[in-house]
Amino acid sequence: MTTVEPQSKLLATSPEICGLGHSRRRIEDDRFIQGGGNYIDDIVLPGMLHMAILRSPVAHARIVSIDTSEAEAVEGVVAVVTGELMAQHNLAWMPTLSGDTQAVLATDKVRYQGQEVAAVIATDPYIARDALAGIVVDYEDLPAIVNPQQGLAADAVLIRDEKEGQTDNVAYEWETGDAAATDRAFAEAANVVELSTFYPRSHPSPLEPCGALADVNPVTGKATIYLTSQAPHAHRTLFALVAGLPEQNIRIISPDLGGGFGNKVPIYPGYVVATAASLLIGKPVKWIESRSENLISTGFARDYYMKGSLALDADNRITAMRAELLSDQGAFFADAQPTRFRAGLFHICTGSYDFPAAYVKAKGVFTNKAPGGVAYRCSFRVTEASYLIERLVENAANQVGMDPAEFRKLNFIKADQFPYRSATGFLYDSGDYHGAMDKALQMVDYDHWRAEQAKGPRADGKLIGIGLASFTEVVGAGNSREYDIAGLKMFDSAELRVHPTGKAILKLGVKSQGQGHETTFAQIVAEELGIPASDVIVVEGDTDNTPYGLGTYASRSTPVAGAATAVIARKLRDKARSLAAHLLEASEDDLEWEPGKFSVAGAPDRSVTIQDIAFAAYTNMPDGMEPGLEGVHYYDPPNMTFPFGTYVVVVAVDPETGVWNVERMVAVDDCGVRINPMVVEGQITGGLTEGFAMSNMQWITFDDDGNCIGANFTDYLVPTAWETPRFELGETVTPSPHHPIGAKGVGESATVGSPAAFVNAVLDALKPYGVTNIDMPVLPHRVWEAVQGAAPANA
Ligand code: CDP
Repeated sequence: MTTVEPQSKLLATSPEICGLGHSRRRIEDDRFIQGGGNYIDDIVLPGMLHMAILRSPVAHARIVSIDTSEAEAVEGVVAVVTGELMAQHNLAWMPTLSGDTQAVLATDKVRYQGQEVAAVIATDPYIARDALAGIVVDYEDLPAIVNPQQGLAADAVLIRDEKEGQTDNVAYEWETGDAAATDRAFAEAANVVELSTFYPRSHPSPLEPCGALADVNPVTGKATIYLTSQAPHAHRTLFALVAGLPEQNIRIISPDLGGGFGNKVPIYPGYVVATAASLLIGKPVKWIESRSENLISTGFARDYYMKGSLALDADNRITAMRAELLSDQGAFFADAQPTRFRAGLFHICTGSYDFPAAYVKAKGVFTNKAPGGVAYRCSFRVTEASYLIERLVENAANQVGMDPAEFRKLNFIKADQFPYRSATGFLYDSGDYHGAMDKALQMVDYDHWRAEQAKGPRADGKLIGIGLASFTEVVGAGNSREYDIAGLKMFDSAELRVHPTGKAILKLGVKSQGQGHETTFAQIVAEELGIPASDVIVVEGDTDNTPYGLGTYASRSTPVAGAATAVIARKLRDKARSLAAHLLEASEDDLEWEPGKFSVAGAPDRSVTIQDIAFAAYTNMPDGMEPGLEGVHYYDPPNMTFPFGTYVVVVAVDPETGVWNVERMVAVDDCGVRINPMVVEGQITGGLTEGFAMSNMQWITFDDDGNCIGANFTDYLVPTAWETPRFELGETVTPSPHHPIGAKGVGESATVGSPAAFVNAVLDALKPYGVTNIDMPVLPHRVWEAVQGAAPANA
């Protein structure tokens, strides 16, 4: 449950029009809660066949032979597809979004457990799955590499031996910042704070796993591919490039998605095999993966080893930061990262703090695990960056004996310093970090909890801990000068058509996976044109019927497609002004606008509504004016947006058992102007729940042979309402100066910002024991082990 703060934005439109700031109820929920959603597995096409995938049982092995004869003989089996068959069509390998190559179906070796080896196409999904047992693969085992440290060892087996010029297991090396200036600052430092930490492998695990229904028409050649895709347009282009199909003949439809969280950004082998099978057989082919297949083989997140340090001067001001990163990329470098940024947007590791020098060095390593590193509710490694700086700052405060809130305030970038150029080169557009911190401290009653903590263990033996995290994020990629995915520049688009009766349809290049775009983007149109939001439908996810866009991930929809929507609506308003002047026989300059109406200045009874104007656009336009009221705008943002906030967690830790409970959790977020406060609160509540889960219960583990332990929801825990704490939400509003409606993204903030607050809180409680680090997930036995043998300082 959440505590809702009053909105600080003055509402410019009536509840009937329902523009910005109204908590409009989510219109998509009508169909979702009545079972009326339209997910890929709901779609049935005439003559449709079903595909199941045979996956490798081992993490690393050479394929000696594959015998498909037994499977082919099963009644109902139409075809068995192997890598050899795919190779005949030049489709055994495909390019990844990061410029690597990935096996579609393995030909030479398997490189992780769960890798795609062959596929059965049958008349029935159960026949397809059962027939997998009839495929006999002879594997010759190879040693498995299950972490990047092993991968870098001198005698490590080469995983990517097929890659020309690849002589080790390094996927990439990358650096940013000023090494010399950072070295100087560290040499002169009064204090140096160091932290070595690991952000474990987690999984976005959307409720709906991935799938495809490929329908290649054998007569016309038109390929209609229903796909669990967060980025349908980009996927269409990549399909055209990979499969050599003419792009106008490919239509990607991404229907309702049951979550995505970054998991539905990569192109998976199943998509390609289903499409190739439909092309070869001439019938629609459906592939829906199981929960375990999703957990074992699709885009994981994090798996990041981080060494960080801060240099402090004698006044406890941070003067520099250094970070060294080691990333477990899995067997293929397949996650989407902008080409220029091998370690994503890790640049944001300088956080909310004002210091002049930073240096980051990153290395990605191939291992015998599924490809990972996707932007799980995060802008490309921003979660890892935020976690590192907020853990470091907390430790710095403790090391120099300052209150962590005071230490942060001393080092925050001040409100009057924006726009602020960070030590790694990002230009933060706006911020008021002190404002968010003050509000959070006041909401939680920080002084009260510090006083409670100072009393020592409670009567029940539990220790109070108070954890802070003041995160800054970077969301809304591009601009197109700097940001691209696989060479496709990052911008986005909106097409708005106002029909003669004043009703409208908005078509977007992004794709909601549950974020409520149909509700909120209509509100932007309502704000700008005064057409009631209920008269605007929003269409996404059909490449034949929406303008080109890079898709929805990394909280980019509002900063980019939201801006495109506002701009195209304003362009139509300009045309509406000309039409209004014509209808009112007045000069355009004499017209005044209020949402939904133009009137003549000084004569308010002489007015026309936006609906009158829309009708005139098709029935009564002035001579020479192009008919219609519609247009499309491609928006290339000048900069990213930088949402921020302060989260405070109060925990009670039982040192006897290691169990910790959340007593209070206050989250103050600033995402600029909120289009729909209720939807924003939903985004934050979901994100906090995910952050809570990562901090204390979720990780994907592997044994020494590379077997994935926990590819199901009894081992990989998804928090329920039972264990999720109560979140108290607050807001500050610092509009983005360059965004047309002053909005910043919010979809990922809470997942990015909260894990450090939970971990900092537990460590704060354990301060008397001198414990300065516990890696996530902070499980009770880890807490218990950390305090063993260490007497509390006040004992
Ligand atoms: O790209 P994605 O939709 O995942 O993230 P987002 O742009 O942060 O938007 C998530 C949801 O929150 C959308 O429905 C937005 O319209 C809404 N939102 C809002 O109402 N106000 C904001 N300032 C930011 C997002």
